[in-house]
Amino acid sequence: MLDLASDTPDDWVQRALADLDTVLLDHAHCEKKAASTAINLIFRYQDHPGLMQPLSALAREELEHFEQVIERITARGGRFGPLTPSTYAARLHVHVRKPEPARLLDTLLVCSLIEARSCERMKRLSLAIPDPDLAAFYKGLLASEARHFHGYVEMACAAFPRDDVRSRLHELADLEAEVLREPAGPIRMHSS
Ligand SMILES: [Fe+2]
Ligand SMILES: [Fe+2]
Repeated sequence: MLDLASDTPDDWVQRALADLDTVLLDHAHCEKKAASTAINLIFRYQDHPGLMQPLSALAREELEHFEQVIERITARGGRFGPLTPSTYAARLHVHVRKPEPARLLDTLLVCSLIEARSCERMKRLSLAIPDPDLAAFYKGLLASEARHFHGYVEMACAAFPRDDVRSRLHELADLEAEVLREPAGPIRMHSS
């Protein structure tokens, strides 16, 4: 349903459960980054009026998630602060073709796959976290991230032929799975 080409291994779930505070802090940064990516696209693609409202709505929702994750961090006695990101997003963006309009298509689809992976991992976390409140929080969020995946794919389909979108999405999904097959770094929402 999410067009991902691989499943998150149990090992990632076990490592995430062993260091949930770091995963939550990284998650807050991911929500902030998701909002900032949507806003950057609004600035870059002003000649695509159909993208403006979905991207704006998405940025607002990601900032709400950012606030909600910070609340969870604070409730657990932690505080928001800097954290080195995983290299996942950067390694994925390497596959974005530079000339337009391919750049727009690839960027929207890379964003869709990041949303899909977030959704898949939030589902795993919602099923594995012993704290019922935090598990319910992830269960609530994963529906939004699934919607964001579909939203980015729909934005791509509004600007490009649907068949081109589907075939490029599958190519990029294979590359995303390859990125996650690289050796594991420190635990992060999108780490190997
Ligand atoms: Fe989000
Ligand atoms: Fe999202």
